[in-house]
Amino acid sequence: MRSTNSDLARLATSGIRRFTALANEVPGCVKLTLGEPEFETPEPIRAAVSESLARGLTHYPPNNGRPELLGALSCHMAGQGLSYGPDEIIVTCGATEALATTLASLLDPGDEVIIPVPAFGLYETLVRSFHGQVRFLDTSENGFQVDSDALKVLVTPHTKALVLTSPNNPTGCVYSTETLDAVASVAAREGLVVICDDVYNQLAYDPFERLAVRHPELREQLVVVDSFSKPWAMTGWRLGWLACAPALKAEIQKMHQYLVSSVPSFLQDAAVVALATDPAPMRETYRRRREIVCERLGDMGLELERPAGAFYAFPSVSGTGLGSEELCERAIREAGVALVPGTCFGAEGFVRLSYCVSDDDLARGLDRLGGFLASL
Ligand SMILES: Cc1ncc(COP(=O)(O)O)c(C=O)c1O
Repeated sequence: MRSTNSDLARLATSGIRRFTALANEVPGCVKLTLGEPEFETPEPIRAAVSESLARGLTHYPPNNGRPELLGALSCHMAGQGLSYGPDEIIVTCGATEALATTLASLLDPGDEVIIPVPAFGLYETLVRSFHGQVRFLDTSENGFQVDSDALKVLVTPHTKALVLTSPNNPTGCVYSTETLDAVASVAAREGLVVICDDVYNQLAYDPFERLAVRHPELREQLVVVDSFSKPWAMTGWRLGWLACAPALKAEIQKMHQYLVSSVPSFLQDAAVVALATDPAPMRETYRRRREIVCERLGDMGLELERPAGAFYAFPSVSGTGLGSEELCERAIREAGVALVPGTCFGAEGFVRLSYCVSDDDLARGLDRLGGFLASL
C-alpha cells in the first residue's frame, strides 16, 4: 500500500491523553490533567434537545447553522463588543473543527503559522497535518506575553497566520494590551491572518481586552473562534463557532461543508438556550478554586503567573531539578496525582494543573502534590 499523509504520520498522539492514560494505570490517582469541567450541562439546555427531537428537527440543517442560532450568536457577540452579522458566522463541531477548517482553508504546503508557546497542542498538529510549518514564539521568559521584536524576526514571506489564545491554555493568562498591539501592528503590516482562539473568554475573572474589539481595523484578517464546551460545560456536545469577514468566510465555509456539512439540527435550539444562560456560577466556582490553587502552590514554593481566566495553573517546576515529564511520571506513580508536563505545550520547566475538577479532588490532588514535592 502507498503511504498515508507523511506529515500526519510523523505526529504523535496527544501528550495530555498519554499522561491521562498513565494515570489510569494507577488506581485512585487524582487526575488534574484534562480541561473537562466537572459540572453537568445546565438542565434547560439539555431539555431543549428533547423538544427539538419531538419537533422533528432531524434533517440536514443549513450548512452554516440554523438562522435562529446564527442570529443568537450575532447578538451574543454584539454584547461583547464584536460586530459580526449572522452571515459572517459558521456553527462548527466544537472549536476543534473551527480551527481545523480555518487552517485547512488558509494553508498552502510550506506556509508558516506562528504559535506563541506555551500553547494548546492542537494548533501544531493541525498546521503540520495540513502540510504547513510551525514557528514557535517562546513567551515563557516574558510573563507569557508576546515580545514585539521576537515576533518580528519570526515573520517570513511564507508566514500566513498567527494563533492567539486569551485566556490561555495552559497558562490561564490573558494577553496584555501591549501584546495585542504588537500582534496587530505586525499582522497589519505583513497581511497575516490572526486566529483568535477565544474559547475561554467567558471564563475570565476580570474584564480584559480582546484583539477583535481593540483592533477593529484588522477585521478583514481576523477569525474569531469560540465554543460552547467550556463556559456551559458542553464538551460532549461538540458545538462551537467561528466569525470572520466575508472574503475569508467564503473559503472557510467551503471547507466546513466538505468536512462536516453541518452540526446536528437538534442541538442548535439548545445552543440558543445556552447563549441565554449565564455561565457566572461556574466561573465563580473556578475563581474560588483559583485562590486555593495559587495559595497552595505558593506554599509549595512553586512560582506561578496568577491565572486570569480559564481553569488552569501553569507553575514553574524548574526549581525541583526534575524535567517536567519525569516529574509528572513520578507524581503519578509515587503520589497518585496526575498533571501535564509543560513539554506537551512546548514549554519545558512547567506543569499544567487543571482545576475544573471537584473541590474534593482538587484538595486531595494538591495534598498529594505537596507531599510529593516535599519528598524530593
Ligand atoms: C484553547 C483551546 N481551544 C480549543 C479547544 C477545543 O475546544 P472544543 O471542545 O470546542 O473543540 C480547547 C479544548 O481544550 C482549548 O483548550
